[in-house]
Amino acid sequence: MHKVGVLVSGRGSNLQAILDRIADGYLPLEVAVVISDKANALALERAAKVGIPTVVVARKECASKDEFEAKINVALVEAGCELVVLAGFMRILSGSFVNQWQQKIINIHPALLPSFPGLDAQGQAVNYGVKFSGCTVHFVDEGTDSGPIILQKVVPVLDDDTEETLAARILEQEHKAMPEALKLWAEGKLEIFGRHVRVLA
Ligand code: GAR
Repeated sequence: MHKVGVLVSGRGSNLQAILDRIADGYLPLEVAVVISDKANALALERAAKVGIPTVVVARKECASKDEFEAKINVALVEAGCELVVLAGFMRILSGSFVNQWQQKIINIHPALLPSFPGLDAQGQAVNYGVKFSGCTVHFVDEGTDSGPIILQKVVPVLDDDTEETLAARILEQEHKAMPEALKLWAEGKLEIFGRHVRVLA
């Protein structure tokens, strides 16, 4: 079984979706460790509840970003992870960390990239006035939310949407998109060619 490490910062509903789809037999994966940069992340409780080891690496307790990422790296390597999953991890990883895990980091972003990268993607979409938004699961490269796209799911943006109502509609799709992408990865069906991810039959 492939071992993955999941990086989180908060609520952990995407982590929960992964755990639920492992439990029901859809996802052939083991979450070997959950790592949070926030000690009070609800995601840590979700992991602990099903016996998954958790590690907290707080940025403010590290002298530098290098040290912060080195600690995360050690936790991932010690747990035997082959893939790093960013599930609501709200920090930008440095180029050197990304290079260490080249083509082995997958992120979910709550917008149809390349629109609305960075923070508050749902608020950006509402403010811009787009008619559709959604979520993107992608491999992570050295840029911000710029790596090769694995899959996207689309939702309408309604006239009376607020950031919160749109975020809820997108989140529902995130909980489908992340397990789908991870299943394709676990089954060896993803091939990366430059910016393009081809899904093998
Ligand atoms: C999700 O909407 C995820 O797409 C977003 O944070 C939320 C985490 O929710 N991630 C980013 O914005 C990353 N730039 P969760 O903790 O309940 O999974």
